[in-house]
Amino acid sequence: MNTWKRPMRREDLPASLPFGENLEILKMPLALGKKTIPNRICYQPMEGCDGTATGAPDELTHRRYLRFAKGGAGLIWFEATAIVPEGRANPRQMYLSEETADVFAALVRDIKSVCLAENGYEPVVICQLTHSGRWSKPQGTPAPLIAYNKPIFEGDDPLPASCIVSDDYLDGLAKKYALSAKLAQRAGFDGVDIKACHGYLLSELLNAYTREGRYGGSYENRTRLFFSAVEAVKKACSPDFILASRFNAYDGYAYPYGMGDSGTPGVPDLTEAARIASDLAARGVTLLNVTMGCPYTNHEVNRPTSFAKEEAPYRSIERMLAGAEAVTKAAPGTQVVCSGLSFMGTLGANVAAGGIEEGKFSLAGFGRQTFSYPDLARDIVKGEGMKPGKLCLTCGKCTELMRAKQTPGCVIYDRELYTALYNEIHG
Ligand SMILES: Cc1cc2nc3c(=O)[nH]c(=O)nc-3n(C[C@H](O)[C@H](O)[C@H](O)COP(=O)(O)O)c2cc1C
Repeated sequence: MNTWKRPMRREDLPASLPFGENLEILKMPLALGKKTIPNRICYQPMEGCDGTATGAPDELTHRRYLRFAKGGAGLIWFEATAIVPEGRANPRQMYLSEETADVFAALVRDIKSVCLAENGYEPVVICQLTHSGRWSKPQGTPAPLIAYNKPIFEGDDPLPASCIVSDDYLDGLAKKYALSAKLAQRAGFDGVDIKACHGYLLSELLNAYTREGRYGGSYENRTRLFFSAVEAVKKACSPDFILASRFNAYDGYAYPYGMGDSGTPGVPDLTEAARIASDLAARGVTLLNVTMGCPYTNHEVNRPTSFAKEEAPYRSIERMLAGAEAVTKAAPGTQVVCSGLSFMGTLGANVAAGGIEEGKFSLAGFGRQTFSYPDLARDIVKGEGMKPGKLCLTCGKCTELMRAKQTPGCVIYDRELYTALYNEIHG
């Protein structure tokens, strides 16, 4: 099996990646409208699949987020939270509703107070609003709601017309985003993310070149729901509520099934990503989180790993950071989070510091690393740097657990939760 060794020294990294020796810049607060993000470290949205049947955070959800809160991230990007029940990706996915909002409120309160008590500051907490679209599984079995049939996925066996969402259905979703955003605001979140990444519904609409009607074909049509959701949320919430979006700058598939195809496999054309960023900024979005690919179908584009077969993980990271840089340039008034730093171990902090110093992005996003090493921000802020011995191995077990309908987390380092499983794996 092909394995890529985690880099240990600067010399192991390609020169094309930014690198900062000094991590002080990661401690710097960042103003965002009337709010302040106390440091430059963002814990990326990481689904735990551990909510209640109604979609409320449960015991394990609390445990996970309190670990993150103690861990000192300036920005906690709360995981995918469905706006409608049929758009849940699994029966334990978060779902904000009148019924569950108070449980979210208690969790957000605890996140803030625990971080304040442990670290002396409160994090900014953003709720990621999602409709899982093609990857919906509200009862645990696939119940896809697709923008259009994609021969690259469906082959000669297209999904029935009943799986294709109608224009009327899409017309009704902007107000669902607005309702969820209002509930998120009531629950104490600092803002919401109108998620348009990783092949879920809004992301699939962005590449719906072949769909007919009001939501397919032209740029205006493909962004119609995305932008009208942003506008509806803005109207529904107070002016200091942060409007954010995590979106795909590149899907990793050839046109007409992927956005950002340059004609050369693996090389993105970031023109449309830049246009989207600028149009989001014009609509009041101030926080952008740049990602790529699809976790189900081209995961190496989405989360660089030691076991990459298609291309070196560094290549995926370079591409991801290039996306963040293009978005930063295109939307100068916004703050931009980069993705894909976990493969680089302790050097992820240096690459983040270098990228921020060079103005390529303003916040460092860590995903899988937060499962194995939830204290990483605290160690950086304390001036100790990231410590070996807690680092994500990018082994993929967290995703395997999720696919096996279990609760994802780090089977290697989170022994409290996974001892039985660990023993099974390691004897
Ligand atoms: C178990 C698991 C759950 C995830 N959940 C979400 C999610 O809810 N929303 C999202 O936008 N991305 C999600 N991601 C993607 C991560 O946020 C991140 O983009 C990806 O892991 C790459 O970053 P990394 O290299 O720092 O891990 C998830 C990834 C994993 C492995």
